[in-house]
Amino acid sequence: MDHAHDIIHPVEDSFARDVLAGLSADVKTLPSRWLYDERGSALFEEITRLDEYYLTRAETSILRERQNDIADFVESGAILIEYGAGAGVKTELVLAGLREPRGYVPIDIADTFLAETSKRIALRFPSLWVRPIERNFLDVFKVPFDESDGGRTGFFPGSTMGNLNASEAKTLLTQMGQHLGDDGRAIIGVDLQKNVGTLLRAYDDSAGVTAAFNLNLLERINAELGGDFRLEQFEHAARWNEIEKAVEMHLVSLCDQRVTICGRTFDFRTSETIHTESSRKYTAESFERLARSGGWRVAEAWQDADRLFGLFGLIRG
Ligand code: AVJ
Repeated sequence: MDHAHDIIHPVEDSFARDVLAGLSADVKTLPSRWLYDERGSALFEEITRLDEYYLTRAETSILRERQNDIADFVESGAILIEYGAGAGVKTELVLAGLREPRGYVPIDIADTFLAETSKRIALRFPSLWVRPIERNFLDVFKVPFDESDGGRTGFFPGSTMGNLNASEAKTLLTQMGQHLGDDGRAIIGVDLQKNVGTLLRAYDDSAGVTAAFNLNLLERINAELGGDFRLEQFEHAARWNEIEKAVEMHLVSLCDQRVTICGRTFDFRTSETIHTESSRKYTAESFERLARSGGWRVAEAWQDADRLFGLFGLIRG
């Protein structure tokens, strides 16, 4: 069966709604998923190559070193369903190790990545059926399967889980349970708690790439929603939230100022911030609790040699 390029369901544009609501709140905040327009996605790719941003290297090293263990954990003939597929580099590492994988279902809102990744993977693994779904993985939706489909494994790498609060994470894990079935498995990558200096450097690099990534959100609002943000009057900041165990990205207003977007005005005081992202950091124990809240148990816990990053193999129950 050739499903390769029939993308399911277009995404609805709620950018304007999120921006107006987020900036009207007492504590100004914007959902981090809007960071990833074309320039934001390119800047994030650049971040993954920075010395300070250890996450991608650490996770990739686990996927390489544990390729066989991961293949053992995923039954032969399985279908891999990837939540928030992106560029799909890690996917190829996993698929290459699996025994006779049958299908690959990438789920992502970024349709350019989705089409490219699907095509590349379909070419590299010709016996695999590939069926991309263009959705925000937090929406409620069904994953279509053939009658004869084998076991299903969810794949959610990259510490994207860390961007979700406890209730969003629980909702996603529960939905993954419905998609993957009672015999389903899941492989999830999360960043681990470590000394705060290392964490903050990863989100405030010396080359200023993360700052550009964060400030690009204001540029996107200017370009797409007719905003008049003056970028030089905002500054990127990375802050550790000890209660949430999260690195937060903020955009700090450098003066008292007023911004207009879609004909509405928003006032900023000096030092007031827009909270643009939380990247939660886990321990083996706190991740286990999270997994349980969504109906899963940790069956395998893999780490890189420096114990920076965790990849967890989950089963239902
Ligand atoms: C892609 C969400 C995993 O939270 O570490 C990188 C995004 N933000 N630098 C992360 C990000 C700032 C990244 N994730």
